[in-house]
Amino acid sequence: MSNISALHQSLVERLKQQGLIRTPRVETAFRAVPRHLFLPDVPLKKVYKDEAIVTKRLDGQAVSSSSQPAVMAIMLEQLDLQPGDRVLEIGAGTGYNAALMAHIVGETGQVIAIDIDEDIVEDARQHLAKAGFEQVKVVCTDGGFGYPSAAPYDRIILTVAAWDIAIAWQEQLKPQGRLVLPLTLKDNVQITVAFESADSYLVSISTSNCGFMKLRGAFAEPQEAEDTISIHLNKLLMQVENILLLPLPIQLQLKLYNLIKFRRSSLKGLRIRVYPQDTDYIKTADEFVIVKRWTRLVLDWQ
Ligand SMILES: C[S@@+](CC[C@H](N)C(=O)[O-])C[C@H]1O[C@@H](n2cnc3c(N)ncnc32)[C@H](O)[C@@H]1O
Repeated sequence: MSNISALHQSLVERLKQQGLIRTPRVETAFRAVPRHLFLPDVPLKKVYKDEAIVTKRLDGQAVSSSSQPAVMAIMLEQLDLQPGDRVLEIGAGTGYNAALMAHIVGETGQVIAIDIDEDIVEDARQHLAKAGFEQVKVVCTDGGFGYPSAAPYDRIILTVAAWDIAIAWQEQLKPQGRLVLPLTLKDNVQITVAFESADSYLVSISTSNCGFMKLRGAFAEPQEAEDTISIHLNKLLMQVENILLLPLPIQLQLKLYNLIKFRRSSLKGLRIRVYPQDTDYIKTADEFVIVKRWTRLVLDWQ
């Protein structure tokens, strides 16, 4: 076994031992597709560490990377891809995740990976060709619109954090399909969630912790005054335990109460339902509601 192959296989072995790679399909894909082909300018030792590797910055801010392999494994397990599936990835980046998915869906399936920057798309195409995955279609477009011309999809995956769930992703998913994405719930609280459809709403079937760079473009997180209030409250929350005793206006107290309640609840048993924003939803005492731009998220712990 060559040195590169040894580094590669030992990373996969570690992900397996940690229980992050759980199924033979995901394991076979990780073993077959070497990460270094997607990070040609990065030293091999770094490539085969279980770390995210930044590949592009704008104004000093990281805007593209090869995600941490551990998180990729978690999300691919959440996605539960089947041979023959048609899958849309939003956030092509280096193309590595698209290649892993192409390996799983095989010749009868189709992977379409989109990214918002032309240079990233160009690089991803080159990496995929070098690794033998020319069949992956890489397109430059804003992922907030999905990619309607190849819809509907069995699976849609975002490898970039969304603040809300765009209508396009729901519309372009097959009725039995699955959407997996890193979702920003509050400020910098992100989790990766797998959703399936249930009547008129989406319901989570699994959640896990994660940390991704944020979606750019027309569907980026809004920068509103309210965010500033939340950030301020968050800081307070970290400093003060018995926060409800503070003489804050009632609206802020309620908001803070929800924040505390949410922060203190673990992901274990967490269920998230996603309703259109305009749905008349009457929440129960045990539910926590986050109102977004297009949707309202209803959280409870079962
Ligand atoms: C963490 S990287 C994706 C990693 C990639 N899946 C891989 O395997 O290398 C996130 C990517 O999302 C892209 N992105 C950000 N906003 C986007 C948008 N609105 N539409 C499409 N791609 C977007 C970034 O340019 C970046 O390349």
